[in-house]
Amino acid sequence: YNLFDIIYSGTAKYLERAEKDVAKAIEEKGRDAEAKLPDTAYGLATIYAITGEKLLTVGDLERGIEMAKEHINRTNMLADALEAGVAAAMLCEIIQACKYLDGNPHPEWVDGALTDAVVRSFGVALVTQDIPGVAVIIGEHKDPEQLAKTIKSYQNKGLQTYLVGKCIDQARDQKIKMGVDLRVIPCGYEIEDVINVVSVAVRASIMFGNTPAGEWEKHRIYTRDRVFAFVNVFGDWDDKIIAAGACAIDMGFPAITETYINEVPTLLLNQPDLSKTDATSLEARGIKIKVTEIDCPVSVSSAFEGERVRKDNMKAEFGGNRTKAWELVHTVELGDIEDHKITVVGPDIDDPQFDGVDVVRIPFGLEIKVAGKAMQSDFESVLERRLHYFLNYIEGSMHVGQRNICWVRLTKEAFDAGFRLRHFGEVVYAKMLDEFGKVVDKVEVTIYTKEEDVVRLEEELVKPIYNVRDDRLNSLTDESVDVFYTCTLCQSFAPSHVCVVTPERLGLCGAVSWLDSKATKELDPTGPAQPIEKNGVIDERLGAWEEVNDVVAKCSQGAVEKVTLYSILEDPMTSCGCFECICGIMPEANGVVIVNREFGGMTPTGMTFGELASMTGGGVQTPGFMGHGRHFISSKKFMAAEGGIERIVWMPKELKDDVAERLNKSVQELYGIENFTDMVCDETIAVDSEAVLEFLTEKGHPALEMDPIM
Ligand code: SF4
Ligand code: NI
Ligand code: NI
Repeated sequence: YNLFDIIYSGTAKYLERAEKDVAKAIEEKGRDAEAKLPDTAYGLATIYAITGEKLLTVGDLERGIEMAKEHINRTNMLADALEAGVAAAMLCEIIQACKYLDGNPHPEWVDGALTDAVVRSFGVALVTQDIPGVAVIIGEHKDPEQLAKTIKSYQNKGLQTYLVGKCIDQARDQKIKMGVDLRVIPCGYEIEDVINVVSVAVRASIMFGNTPAGEWEKHRIYTRDRVFAFVNVFGDWDDKIIAAGACAIDMGFPAITETYINEVPTLLLNQPDLSKTDATSLEARGIKIKVTEIDCPVSVSSAFEGERVRKDNMKAEFGGNRTKAWELVHTVELGDIEDHKITVVGPDIDDPQFDGVDVVRIPFGLEIKVAGKAMQSDFESVLERRLHYFLNYIEGSMHVGQRNICWVRLTKEAFDAGFRLRHFGEVVYAKMLDEFGKVVDKVEVTIYTKEEDVVRLEEELVKPIYNVRDDRLNSLTDESVDVFYTCTLCQSFAPSHVCVVTPERLGLCGAVSWLDSKATKELDPTGPAQPIEKNGVIDERLGAWEEVNDVVAKCSQGAVEKVTLYSILEDPMTSCGCFECICGIMPEANGVVIVNREFGGMTPTGMTFGELASMTGGGVQTPGFMGHGRHFISSKKFMAAEGGIERIVWMPKELKDDVAERLNKSVQELYGIENFTDMVCDETIAVDSEAVLEFLTEKGHPALEMDPIM
């Protein structure tokens, strides 16, 4: 046989099915019926990227087939065969859209087509390489236990793994924990469902890379250089699998197959030894994983960050209003600390007194002493906030909250595997040195579980330190510091995007504060956080400085020459794509609407989060739209040039409740208005523009009386 023949024949099979499915859809629904994948602003994203056209109806699908056919030109050249792979992807996407005509076609444990919001939620983890790569597993494994090992190996390294075909059931039988939050994502049982992962890669290129739709060559370069994906094919291949593989190869994703097909150097590789699939794949895609040895009986990986621990599977619980709990990182002198000393003061979770107890609930005081010559007290809160992640990375542990409202749960499995309290210490010890080794030379962990200790230390040790920190944070304003910082972390996905991080404006992902930046500069002097001296004020109201412009121009390679920090209309800061919230203008209300990524409904602007988000991103300036973090909503610098937080007229209820306390405090201080959020509309009150206006008028919302916003 000939590899090219196989690709063409696979593509022909997709064509046949797409034609049949679309003909049926036309007959049953008519050409005007909507044909959309769930919550996306890009129609069929892959076809949009390839052709520049958004397909939205059944009639469009028919046109899509014609467009796909143009990519099928049978010759003896590799480039043309790969092009047929591109056609295969287009056809698979059309088939997927037909599947979704009657709602979600997949069983509930299959994620299928992911929404824009979910793809955006991967942003920060991808740029920080917290997700170092993406594995796509296709087919049926001859040894389910080995399959489980391979998936766990990827999961333990933080990779995302997409499953297509019978391997989904095999992984389920092997009790692999799955779901978007656990980075093991079933795409569907048919090979055609592989398009759901292609669509994720393509949307990364559109959303974060701002790659123009219709310029496929640029998307290919983007996915090849920035999306570290690869494909594993288990079992026998057929021509459809290989046609899909041709598309993967076209996008720069190597395929590693169990059964020999043919070799295309570096891109199509054969690995019959199934215990080596993971190693061969990581090497082929050039993914390097840093391993930290941790003395802990369960896995510790960023892939377990989103794992929930439910009541019926819980062995122990600390905090969460059930018992007193706090966590604290504080600095001591190098002489006053013993490195790697881990002490549990009080009963552990396997103490004989808990025999026969269903759920062990004990007080929890987690004290982490650190010392280092380059350590600064400003970094304590940065390190302490990482505890949330470190404790969540533990398989079978869930951490919520922070400080003295933290809450930890542990599963029965983790307990049965031998996890005890000192292992929290081991994990924290290893992770602290791993991430903060440049400023921390020694780490000592003490865990208190006796009520009297936890209560006493909270008053004597913990609260005084929190108070000092709060005073410091409250005194930090844009005026009170001499430097701001760049953050260019997202440039790995949005090459011209730069965040300017100030005390009152955190990075738009919500994950990088001014103190974080300060610490990052210390940890990685030539890294993403570079100081910007506040030289050359141009306009204080807009927040424009010459030095800010110069640095942003340099860091964006000239793509952005001027930014203001306090305006949404004049030279606003760019967005990358991973923002927590997006703010857009509602002209008739003379104000702005803010919507968070988790909100799936409609907003008074007539656009959903996904649609608003698609208006900006990729490091481009888009006046009138601003991506930002949740925390920024209560900042006194929030679009201060246009009148500030008083302009907020609508937010989803969950977001409004989340920010209410801080927002109300800021509004009170700035404008003397009490309980401002009572005047802000939400979806439980009204979404329709007229009804929103009615509500605002009734409440006397200040925006209505302000100068016209545009
Ligand atoms: Fe990306 Fe900005 Fe967050 Fe840095 S601060 S990670 S550039 S969004
Ligand atoms: Ni966890
Ligand atoms: Ni980003």
